[in-house]
Amino acid sequence: MNTPYGGKLVDLIVSPERAAEMKAAAKDLVSLTLDERGVCDLELLSVGGYSPLKGFLGRADYKRVVHEQRLADGTLWPLPVVLPVSPNEGVSEGKPLALRDVYGNLLAVLHVEEIYRVDKQAEALHVYGTIDERHPSVAYLSRISDHYAAGRLEVVRTPPHYDFVDLRQTPSELRAYLDSLGWSRVVAFHTDAPLHRPQEEATKRAAQQIGGLLIHPVVGVTRPGDVDHYTRIRCYRALVDDYYEPGSVALSLLPFATRMAGPREAVLHAIIRRNYGCTDLMVGLDHVGHGLDSAGKPFYEPDSAQQALATFGEEIGMGMVVTSPMVYLPDVDRYESVDDVPQGAKTAVLSSDQIREEYLARGHQLPGWFSRPAVAEILQETHPPRFRQGLTIWFTGLSGSGKSTVAQALVERLAEYGRNCSFLDGDEIRTHLSKGLGFSKQDRDINIRRVGYVAGLVAQHGGTTLCSVISPYKAGRDEARRASKGNFIEVYCSTSLEVCEQRDVKGLYAKARAAVAAGSPLGFTGIDDSYEAPDNAEVVLDTGKQGVSECVEAIVQKLLGLGYILPHGHASL
Ligand code: ADX
Repeated sequence: MNTPYGGKLVDLIVSPERAAEMKAAAKDLVSLTLDERGVCDLELLSVGGYSPLKGFLGRADYKRVVHEQRLADGTLWPLPVVLPVSPNEGVSEGKPLALRDVYGNLLAVLHVEEIYRVDKQAEALHVYGTIDERHPSVAYLSRISDHYAAGRLEVVRTPPHYDFVDLRQTPSELRAYLDSLGWSRVVAFHTDAPLHRPQEEATKRAAQQIGGLLIHPVVGVTRPGDVDHYTRIRCYRALVDDYYEPGSVALSLLPFATRMAGPREAVLHAIIRRNYGCTDLMVGLDHVGHGLDSAGKPFYEPDSAQQALATFGEEIGMGMVVTSPMVYLPDVDRYESVDDVPQGAKTAVLSSDQIREEYLARGHQLPGWFSRPAVAEILQETHPPRFRQGLTIWFTGLSGSGKSTVAQALVERLAEYGRNCSFLDGDEIRTHLSKGLGFSKQDRDINIRRVGYVAGLVAQHGGTTLCSVISPYKAGRDEARRASKGNFIEVYCSTSLEVCEQRDVKGLYAKARAAVAAGSPLGFTGIDDSYEAPDNAEVVLDTGKQGVSECVEAIVQKLLGLGYILPHGHASL
């Protein structure tokens, strides 16, 4: 085992003089805007959270990491930390590249030494063990370039943060702080969820066993659908302040982009915590999985993270505290590890689905045996019940499939339930928001991205938007779904091409057929341009077979079932 706070930390941040020089020079450089994952990775590289990495992986390191979890020199490194670039956007070997955040802040300059092409399918298979796009990191891979850049990295500044600044320590700051507490050993608790009584009990036991506890939540990119970090941190603070022995616990935030990569990710969690000054890591079952694949099978075996750390812990220099799930014993009003529950004793637990669906989504406060009141109150306040949450209802289908007709009727029907909607209709959008765009794939993608973006903003602030656009491509619709953070109902108007063409309200099908016959096709959806039918629509309609009222009713029933509207007579739950 290494010494508790041993190991040299990488520091890529340049002197203020050099930073000033770089800022002046960067005006003439090609810029790359980092995505959220890139910003997190850059921050961890800059401050040594990823020590011994000194930059994004080059080809040789990348290859060996993908296949063997090791850098080219043999150092254990489980996951690719890479910089995707599009070579046709001016990025080239030998040219410095300015790395910026989405606000345009210059963060770093990469002296590009190599740009290499990768096989993303092989990366998915070896690193995540699957090519199933249900895995968020596999889906992410399919969205990024298949060229990665690497080279010497000079960091001007770490990404600016203005929230919870007192909880954002660099590895060297945290090492010094933990040192000052005088604990002989420190166990880290990795989390991306609010802490409830079971986790509180488990962490307290680990602290007792090891000496000191660091609650080290991820605040970069977490799992889709996770509780936002502002809410989580308010909960952690309330807990740490009132329910732990003073001096027994430290709380600090980790700017990390979760990969949900099971055992490999657990290894990275341990390396990062070693860098931040910990000696041990708590590892429970399903430490970093991501639920089920398309066939309903878990992506990772529940104990795979524990096995990985049993194999690599010593090499990393980190111990593992194997954590068993804690359950509540109502008859004696206390928590116990599942392994130690007396035979025949009554037990109680709440799954994350139950927390979400049975309590938060319905506006119910979590019970006292499961959550501390301070935590339950914060969660209730920040999780309005579904019927008060924003929503995007997205109509997709061929031109003339009845999208707008049903949507207009739905606007009226939903007002009856107190859900007032805005309506973004394809034809109208193309007269202002998307004025000037045509019907090439590129223009349609831009159009759909705009509509999804606007609806997403509205949904995130409690409003409802009905969107009626052909949106022929699945990727664009899925992006819109993500923009609304899952508060998204896709309504597929599956009306057949024959019916749509018979209706031909605007005479466009006839024109499109004539154009094809004349040898100058228009790229009209369904005639000479493709429509990718959804496989994940919440509601499927066919206005060739169903009347408007029947279609509206099907959507209303869906919304009632999901709790987005309440049955008449229920002002609140
Ligand atoms: S989308 O593909 O970008 O989603 P959108 O819904 O905005 O399309 O616009 C579709 C409307 O534009 C159709 O209802 C139709 O009236 C008209 N239109 C004009 N040219 C085309 C075309 N080539 N393909 C499909 N619709 C077209």
